Amino acid sequence: MSKTESKIVLLATEKPFSASARDQVVAILKDAGHEVRVLEKYPAQAALLDALRSAHAAIVRSDVVDAAALAAAPELALVVRAGAGYDTIDTAAARARGVDVMNTPGQNANAVAELAFGMMTYLCRGKFDGKTGTELRGKTLGVHAVGAVGRALLAIASGYGMKTWGFDPYVDAAAMRSAGAEPVASVEELYERSQFVSLHVPATPETKGSVGKALLGRMPKGAMLVNTARKEVIDEAGLLEVFAERPDFRYASDIAPSDATAAALREKYDARIYLTPAKMGAQTEEANVNAGLAAARQIVAYFATGERRFVVNP
Ligand code: 3PG
Repeated sequence: MSKTESKIVLLATEKPFSASARDQVVAILKDAGHEVRVLEKYPAQAALLDALRSAHAAIVRSDVVDAAALAAAPELALVVRAGAGYDTIDTAAARARGVDVMNTPGQNANAVAELAFGMMTYLCRGKFDGKTGTELRGKTLGVHAVGAVGRALLAIASGYGMKTWGFDPYVDAAAMRSAGAEPVASVEELYERSQFVSLHVPATPETKGSVGKALLGRMPKGAMLVNTARKEVIDEAGLLEVFAERPDFRYASDIAPSDATAAALREKYDARIYLTPAKMGAQTEEANVNAGLAAARQIVAYFATGERRFVVNP
């Protein structure tokens, strides 16, 4: 078998991996004979476009690979999103240019699930302000979309002793039960039954703005919505209405809402919200290593054998 031709691989992470994860990613690609260029914490999109100009493949996180970025990359064959959600990549424009897009599903799921539980505990304990809070044991948890993160969350929830419900039109009842959640018939029922709802839907045209007053208003007393998914899924006007009408409602999010919504939430409902200062879900050493190394290995296999597993824009 002939040796794989050397390619230029760009590792472009506006939010960098840990140094150790980055070095391991670089080592895997170099060991396979590829040239690696690293672009971290870049100040503007122009820097990404410039770096893409000569790249045959790229590893990114939430970095924006839109039509303009793809147009700036005439040599590009493959973009690997080191993570789950690829809503920041224009997959249709990529396909039109013959560029394959992959993700690394499940690799950062545990990190996201642990963060969801950390945020639930933090808000239940009044942000550790010294006053009496509440526990999670015995409470009801609805998992809105049961993919890799949802399943990791359910595994943790069983240790907490929570009663768990799941809704996912793509997961059948048997698979839902084996993941640890009792299936519900509709998304409305999920919110009606759950004191806590953890969101894990991707941002798609169908899901954008889909979680608002009509669903949140159904939640039982002492409700908390936990968002480690995407901000676009939330109908922010509806969220603010729910806060105005329900003094019991709480919201924890790893993804900042729009500036205006964040300011309104902070000004009026600060005790009932928690917004991470930066998107933290996948920011653990383990998740950086898992997702980064998976991405590097997928690129090596793609150029060596044409392996197309994990292509999301076939
Ligand atoms: C994902 O989709 O994998 C998560 O949202 C993590 O995103 P990040 O790599 O930009 O932190």
